Amino acid sequence: MTVSRKTVLVVGATGSIGRLVVEEAIGQGHTVRALVRTPDKARQLPSEAQVVIGDVTQPGKLAGAVDGIDAVVFTHGSDNAGKVGAESVDYGGVRNVLSALGTRTARIALMTSIGVTNRTGKYNRTTEAHDWKRRSERLVRASGLAYTIVRPGWFDYNGPDQHRLVLLQGDTRKAGDSSDGVIARCQIAGILVSSLISDHSLRKTFELVAVNGLAQENFDALFAALDEDPQGALDGVHDTANMPLNDEPKRVREDLNAMTRLRPPERGVGRERPPDERNLGGQGDKLV
Ligand SMILES: NC(=O)c1ccc[n+]([C@@H]2O[C@H](COP(=O)([O-])OP(=O)(O)OC[C@H]3O[C@@H](n4cnc5c(N)ncnc54)[C@H](OP(=O)(O)O)[C@@H]3O)[C@@H](O)[C@H]2O)c1
Repeated sequence: MTVSRKTVLVVGATGSIGRLVVEEAIGQGHTVRALVRTPDKARQLPSEAQVVIGDVTQPGKLAGAVDGIDAVVFTHGSDNAGKVGAESVDYGGVRNVLSALGTRTARIALMTSIGVTNRTGKYNRTTEAHDWKRRSERLVRASGLAYTIVRPGWFDYNGPDQHRLVLLQGDTRKAGDSSDGVIARCQIAGILVSSLISDHSLRKTFELVAVNGLAQENFDALFAALDEDPQGALDGVHDTANMPLNDEPKRVREDLNAMTRLRPPERGVGRERPPDERNLGGQGDKLV
């Protein structure tokens, strides 16, 4: 049974989505801890939010952020910081926060992006942002923690009647522009926070867009209609298997191994052999 009042760490709490996640989580009755880089920016946040100062690229200073939390919502991003930012912030931030959590349990909601499995488009070739965000998804799946991964479409490109949420799987929209799908920032925040207390959003990875129509109120029904990621899989269910683990950088495989070793038995999966020692194949690489 999912506990409905949680202490939620929001990573990227001063960002365009993170701020809305903070408000939404407070509105849903959670205790919110906001990870903020600079005290000045913390002043924008509601007074109910507990502020903890930290930088996700400084792993040694994240212990206070994760102390006593029940859930993490990752909304951070390194936009315009190129390949280095994509690796150190988008990916490294997830690695460092999960590592700071150690063997403790927490519910995870991770925001990445629609098109995250598109490796050949100009955006990814220039920034590697898709690849590093996808690797952050893999870390979350490898952690054995209860998770939901949300890949939003283009923020706030909605037309006036585009409120009806559509959750997609397989990441097949790869135009690299808003024709891939649009979504309101506040709707992303609503889905991320609601996923934390839903049993139907567990181990689900999906793209999130909005189309013409009225907004739904029952997110559980939307989550329930989705396929789960296979137990132990590195990629989302129905994702293209175009990032073979054996071709991944050594440091990435080492991070995955380290994440796997953090899995406590109570996460329901027991200790696992490192992923690169496993027999991989079929629909994407698997941890089991
Ligand atoms: N725009 C779109 O249509 C779209 C669609 C799908 C996905 N996305 C992705 O969504 C992500 C977030 O977008 P956004 O518009 O919300 O970005 P944003 O407004 O720039 O917010 C990014 C957040 O991450 C924080 N952050 C950056 N580096 C950090 C670090 N080292 N340690 C701790 N926090 C750090 C920022 O803190 P500061 O406030 O201190 O800078 C800020 O709170 C981006 O990665 C983007 O690629 C965007």
